[in-house]
Amino acid sequence: KQKVIIDCDPGIDDSLALLLAINSPELEILGITIVSGNVPAEIGTQNALKVLEFTGRLDIPVYIGAAKPLKRTYVSAQDTHGQDGLGESQLPLVTKTTVQPDAVGFIEQTLAQNRQVVILAIGPLTNLALALKARQTVWHNCQAIISMGGNFRSHGNCSPVAEYNYWCDPDAAAYVFDHTPVPIKMVDLDVTRKIVLTPNILEYIWQKNQRIGNFIKKITRFYFDFHWQQEKVIGCVINDPLAVAFLLEPTLCQGFEARVKIVTDGLAIGQSMVDVQGFWQETSNALVLTEVDGQNFMHMFLQRIIQAKDP
Ligand code: BDR
Ligand code: CA
Repeated sequence: KQKVIIDCDPGIDDSLALLLAINSPELEILGITIVSGNVPAEIGTQNALKVLEFTGRLDIPVYIGAAKPLKRTYVSAQDTHGQDGLGESQLPLVTKTTVQPDAVGFIEQTLAQNRQVVILAIGPLTNLALALKARQTVWHNCQAIISMGGNFRSHGNCSPVAEYNYWCDPDAAAYVFDHTPVPIKMVDLDVTRKIVLTPNILEYIWQKNQRIGNFIKKITRFYFDFHWQQEKVIGCVINDPLAVAFLLEPTLCQGFEARVKIVTDGLAIGQSMVDVQGFWQETSNALVLTEVDGQNFMHMFLQRIIQAKDP
């Protein structure tokens, strides 16, 4: 099985990514680490537990991580994800289990004790930057970093040029891109914007599996309203599950290797600058994804979600 740590800020689409990962038998989820992003880390931790309880997987440990970005003032995305981070779904709190402290320590230890670990980072990169800074020597055991974040041709979602995960903690993102032991697979807005959960698809999920359909309906209603009001789009873009799907099936996306730097101040703060022409004459540190087979993604997502067994 592929060993994986999921670093996330759940978050509606993070929760869908967790559902996909949990329903993928190829993956061994060693732990879920939480970073402040869409919601403060304490709320994100509760949301991860809600997904684990729903799927009967409270055996997967959850570690709480960084409360705020390295330097910048923390700005959540509760306007998009709801105050509770799960679209005001008001799911009951999970009290059956304890949350582990120290996500950063967990990442370091896991890398020290395991080989070939994939880090799936679907929130701001604060926890990863702290773990890299603390103990760079264990990172040779990191097989890949897949990061949902950034954008190349597509416009930003927080500013004209910046995507939320890198914009929220640009110093962490810059540190990770500058010091990464492996090229970062950047599942950016160019590809994730093409992944839209429509009411039709949601209805189909519900017809096939009412339990999971009801859960997804509950957590996405707010997200649907947000997309309709802000962008006049019927349906919602679900960014984070594509990162999981790309790990499971790399042929789903295409891109190119390049040097990427993250802007840490000024008007373009948080922008992922991609040196497509090689101006900087530096080795590449990222695989920048630009194309996705959206239909095959949806096929994989639906198949796995619908077949989810009751706990
Ligand atoms: C990213 O930011 C968050 O709002 C989503 O969960 C996703 O990880 C998209 O920009
Ligand atoms: Ca996220």
